[in-house]
Amino acid sequence: MSDKPVLVVTRKLPTVVEERLQRDYHPKLNPNDRLYSSDELVGLCDGASGMMPCHTEQLTAEVIARLPASIKIIANFSVGVDHCDLDAARKRGITVTNTPDVLTEDTADMTMALILAVPRRLVEGERIVRSGDWSGWSPTWMLGHRIFGKRLGIIGMGRIGQAVARRARGFGLSIHYHNRNRVHEEIENELEATYWESLDQMLAHMDFVSVNCPHTPATYHLLSARRLKLLQPHAVIVNTARGEVIDENALTQVLQSGDIAGAGLDVFEHSPAVNPKLLALDNVVLLPHMGSATFEGRGDMGEKVVINIQTFVDDHTPPDRVIGDKF
Ligand code: 8YV
Repeated sequence: MSDKPVLVVTRKLPTVVEERLQRDYHPKLNPNDRLYSSDELVGLCDGASGMMPCHTEQLTAEVIARLPASIKIIANFSVGVDHCDLDAARKRGITVTNTPDVLTEDTADMTMALILAVPRRLVEGERIVRSGDWSGWSPTWMLGHRIFGKRLGIIGMGRIGQAVARRARGFGLSIHYHNRNRVHEEIENELEATYWESLDQMLAHMDFVSVNCPHTPATYHLLSARRLKLLQPHAVIVNTARGEVIDENALTQVLQSGDIAGAGLDVFEHSPAVNPKLLALDNVVLLPHMGSATFEGRGDMGEKVVINIQTFVDDHTPPDRVIGDKF
């Protein structure tokens, strides 16, 4: 028997990634892409050195405490790590890695697509053509709102936020942002970005708001009922980050009441469940968490995970280590 490390791969990954894993490791694959229960996951980890989860696996403190001692690395196939209790992993001495950078451009594209789709009523229009109810052009029908010359407020000016800003500038939007820390002057200058220390203040002045921050205890319901009420009635919110950053119930209410104009959501608070009241609204565009879903991106994510695992196996620090010491 070879001494290739055994890895638990929780979801069906692109063939190119699985083949790569099979070459160098003993991956326990999930060909049917069935969501494992916590008990199954813990059981599968028996005798394995590492786990390769997606954001769909809830690695709570309780689950991590039950993992066998053989598990040394959780190499996430995701950039977000909010599904994984990092303190619990740290306590167990488990290294945790993620996949930054390679999803940035694809997620920024999807953010921009939503920024365009909501005010220009793209999906509504498409639905009408398909329904066969289109009786012809009219000068006063299907009017939306101009994008050029408006203000975009980005919440979270990390890699993805900056990539959104670059695109948005090409569409004539002025860039505003709120972030835990002000970004480097050079970046601010390049993007001609205005920093708002007060999120409340920024929200009250924006035409579009894009959520691009991670979900952490500090950002849970950052867009609370109170903050959503600060938005202008013509404002549009776009979220390609994590549903938990917005109070989805409160968002539904301000959309229903017309206190804001629309929303483009790629993520939901209780994903995959979507608030049925949102489904009934015309002024929202709803996507099934597909911001980073490109063939290229998924392949690059797989490559990143492999590099993280291999450097760890070779007793080096994985390039995308979130927590953990070398063993
Ligand atoms: C991925 C994401 O599709 O990487 C992330 O954090 O949200 C995604 O866009 C997914 O999480 C992969 O596990």
